[in-house]
Amino acid sequence: MNEEEYREVAWTNIAKIADTDDQDICDKVYGDWADTYERDSNAIKFVAPEELAKRSVKFFRNDESSQLLDVAAGTGTLGQHLRTYGFTGIMDAIDISAPMLEKAKEKGIYRNFVCQGLHPDKSLPFDDNSYDVVALSGGLGDKHIEARCILQLIRIVKPGGVFAFNVQNRALFDGCRAEIKQILDGMAARKEVSYETMEATHYGTLTKMTGDVIPGLIFIVTKL
Ligand SMILES: C[S@@+](CC[C@H](N)C(=O)[O-])C[C@H]1O[C@@H](n2cnc3c(N)ncnc32)[C@H](O)[C@@H]1O
Repeated sequence: MNEEEYREVAWTNIAKIADTDDQDICDKVYGDWADTYERDSNAIKFVAPEELAKRSVKFFRNDESSQLLDVAAGTGTLGQHLRTYGFTGIMDAIDISAPMLEKAKEKGIYRNFVCQGLHPDKSLPFDDNSYDVVALSGGLGDKHIEARCILQLIRIVKPGGVFAFNVQNRALFDGCRAEIKQILDGMAARKEVSYETMEATHYGTLTKMTGDVIPGLIFIVTKL
């Protein structure tokens, strides 16, 4: 297979996810895609995890005992980029897809793996204030993790710790970004968090027809 065919695989899988409202079908798409997910994502220049790692690591407590949870870790691309950009701490991974996590295991960069989906009404199996860093790339929004789940993710960050994540910065994700900002603005007003955003010009490419670039928005949330 060549690059063009890898792009075709990526866009076909992305279209399958876009075309369904059934979370089980999304899970199956990622499960079936796990073996070639990174190859195909690279072919469509899905740089969101690298961009998040590169631009957020300087905000993290970063030493060998720092504890980070990679949420929607998938095959572990964010963790790998975090290592490349200098994160030296301990990393755990959580994702709804067992086959994606199996690929992440092969990287040998994570300590613990939790195979569980995030849902607003289902509590995560982590204590309050347990991680120095929670990081999440490419997992928030339509057909994936609902915006309200950020409350649970902030719950498990230690005071002074950071929750870093990205979301697509295009119209389809306007509702998701607005909900995230509403939650964070409320928490900031109550002095529970402070946060800043950074624009990322390239998150991924849009369609095989146009090759348009999707911009991203990076959030750095500090728990007070
Ligand atoms: C676009 S991939 C991103 C993977 C990885 N973070 C990266 O940047 O390469 C989205 C990931 O979110 C996971 N996912 C989707 N919905 C989820 C949910 N409700 N809870 C946990 N993980 C979910 C999928 O299984 C998939 O691994």
